Amino acid sequence: MKVALKAFSVVLGVLLLVVGGVYAWAHVASGRILSRTFEAHEIDFPIPFPLTEEEAAQASVTGADAARLALERARERGSHLVEARYACTECHGANFGGGVMIDAAPIGRLLGPNITTGRGSRTLDYSPSDWDRIVRHGILPDGTPATMPSEDFQLMSDRELSDIVAYLRSLPPVDNEVPEPSFGPMGKFLIATGELPLSADVIGSHDSTHRRMAPVARVDVEFGQHLAGICTGCHGQNLAGGTIPGGDPSWVPARNITPHADGLAGWTYEDLRRAMTEGVRPDGTDLKVPMTLMQPYAQRMTDIEMQALWAYLQSVPAAATPE
Ligand code: HEC
Ligand code: HEC
Repeated sequence: MKVALKAFSVVLGVLLLVVGGVYAWAHVASGRILSRTFEAHEIDFPIPFPLTEEEAAQASVTGADAARLALERARERGSHLVEARYACTECHGANFGGGVMIDAAPIGRLLGPNITTGRGSRTLDYSPSDWDRIVRHGILPDGTPATMPSEDFQLMSDRELSDIVAYLRSLPPVDNEVPEPSFGPMGKFLIATGELPLSADVIGSHDSTHRRMAPVARVDVEFGQHLAGICTGCHGQNLAGGTIPGGDPSWVPARNITPHADGLAGWTYEDLRRAMTEGVRPDGTDLKVPMTLMQPYAQRMTDIEMQALWAYLQSVPAAATPE
C-alpha cells in the first residue's frame, strides 16, 4: 500500500513537473514571439482622397466645394467597405467602440479595441503608416505583432483604407477603454507552437507596394479577385478550404470554393448568392459558423460585387481539398 502510494506520488510529482515545465516554456516562448518587433515601410496617402479630375469635372465643383464633396464620397465608400466587405465590426463592435474576437478562458481574451475618436481610442494620433501597419501588415504602432487577422486585408488599396479612416472619423465618438489582449495557458501554448499564427509572420512582405486604387468595380475577374482577398483567411490562398488556421476549435473546416468536384462544380451564380446571403446550399442544407458570420456583409454587397466574385471563383484552378 505504502509502496503504491509512494509510486503514485512520484508519478504525480513528475506529471506536475512536466505540466509546469511545458507551461513555463509556453509562457516564455510566447512572450518572446509576441515581443519581437517588425520593420515595415513608411507610406503616405491623403485622408480623404481628393476627387479625380474626371469626378470634379462631372460634378462641376472646384476649391472648397470639391474638398467637401471628396470627403462626403470618401465616407460613403468607407461605409460600404466596412458594411459589405471588410468585416471590421465583427471584432471592433457595431459602433467601433470595442468588441470581441476571442473570449475563451484557456485561449485568452482578445478584444477588438476602440477605434472611434472617443476616450480610450487607440487611433487618435494614427498616421497613414500606422493604419497601413495594423490593417495590412498586422503590426502595432510599437512594431510588435498584433493578434488581428490582417492577412484578410492585404489586398486593400490605399484609397480603400483612406476611405475607411475617413468614415471612422465621421462616426460618433465612443468612450470605452478596452483591455490589451491577454493569453491563457492554451493560448500561450498555441502561440509558442505556431498553431495560432500571427499575421505579421503570415504576410510575406512588409515593404512591397500596395495598390493606390482598387480595380474598377465591374463584373470581371480582376475586381472579383480583389473582393476574394477576404475569403482567403479561412478558405486558404488557393480557396481549396480545410481547417481554418488559428480558428475557434468549434468551427467546421472551410469548404472548397474552387470549381473542383469537392467544391463549387455544378453551382450557378444564384447558388453562390443564396449561400452567401441566406446561408443555404443548393441541396437545401444550412451553412454553419463561421461562414454564416459573412451573411450580413454579403447581403449588403452590390450585384456587381457578387457577380465579380462569382466570375473570379469560376476562373481559379480547380484544386482538391487538403486533408
Ligand atoms: C477578426 C477580428 C478583427 C477584425 C475583423 C478586425 N480587427 Fe482590428 N483588431 C482586432 C484585435 C484582436 C486587435 C487588438 C490587436 C492587438 O493588440 O494585438 C485589433 C486592433 C486594431 C487596431 C488598433 C491597434 C492598436 O493600436 O492597438 C486598429 C486601428 C484596427 N484593429 C483596425 C481594424 C480595421 C480598420 C478593421 C477592418 C478593416 C479591423 N481592425 C478588423 C481584431 C480584428
Ligand atoms: C471566417 C471564415 C470564413 C470566411 C472569411 C469566408 N468563409 Fe466561406 N466558409 C467558411 C466555412 C467554415 C465554410 C463551411 C461551412 C459549412 O460546412 O457549413 C464555408 C463555406 C462556404 C461556401 C459553401 C461551400 C459548399 O460547398 O457548401 C461558400 C460558397 C463560401 N464559403 C464562399 C465564401 C466566399 C466567396 C468568401 C469571401 C467573400 C468566404 N466564403 C469567406 C468560412 C469562411
